[in-house]
Amino acid sequence: VYRKATPTAQPTFLLIGPSGGGKTAFLTLTERKAVAQTHTSTAPLTVEVTLPDGYTPNSSAFRSPGDPAFERARRFLLVDTPGHGKLRRFATARLANPANVRGIIFVVDAAFVAEEPGLNATAEYLHDVLLALQKRSSSTKTTKGPKEIPVLIAANKLDLFTALPPHLVKLQLEKAINQVRKSRAKGLRDSGAALAEGDEGLDEEREWLGEGGEGDFDFTQMEEVGTAVSVLGGNLIGGKGSDAKAWLEWIAEQL
Ligand code: GTP
Ligand code: MG
Repeated sequence: VYRKATPTAQPTFLLIGPSGGGKTAFLTLTERKAVAQTHTSTAPLTVEVTLPDGYTPNSSAFRSPGDPAFERARRFLLVDTPGHGKLRRFATARLANPANVRGIIFVVDAAFVAEEPGLNATAEYLHDVLLALQKRSSSTKTTKGPKEIPVLIAANKLDLFTALPPHLVKLQLEKAINQVRKSRAKGLRDSGAALAEGDEGLDEEREWLGEGGEGDFDFTQMEEVGTAVSVLGGNLIGGKGSDAKAWLEWIAEQL
């Protein structure tokens, strides 16, 4: 009996986030070890890359470079998606079917989120990504639940003097997401969607990100649905050259 060899599923990382954050710049740096000139993306792009020397995949912590298993474990796929508001269907489609996705890298311009309208625009997109992960987790019928998908918020462009440091990027985004979920809930109530078909409050509950109740939103609430959120800083161009160390280490931990 001949059986087709099942192609081994490559671990995949999704690059998501608003336009101009630096997703494609990160992809070119990881692929070519140099940042090329980028233009706003209009289509998704998948590349196979190798974790640079000096980073150890978590699964190979006890193996040495040169060991074939170690070398295999360093390979992964990076999927770049367009951030423009009209082109997010590509990212949404991958989120809806996240087979082999080991992590989501949400790339943020740390200067853009320092004030409005950048902060709210970024928080709305991040809210929707986290809500998609939450729905995926709560809609699974098995007791085991789907595989956990961690999120890295890459606070990029720290070379800019207007950029917020990562801990403030985190706080600002948490506060802004808190606002987003309030206004979304109000929108649902006003439209009467939650009252349709007699299932009072059901939609509203389903569309509510994180813990219910009076408390404010913070990223640790995502752990409940299997998503650890980390906020780590870096820059791809400018400054004293690119610094993507924290992000590559995060990727290595998921491999
Ligand atoms: P879309 O494709 O529109 O979703 O945007 P993107 O997230 O792919 O952004 P892209 O990688 O094209 O980067 C946008 C702009 O930011 C480019 O002009 C980059 O050169 C610039 N950029 C990226 N990273 C950095 C950084 O660390 N510092 C500075 N100063 N500029 C950066
Ligand atoms: Mg791009």
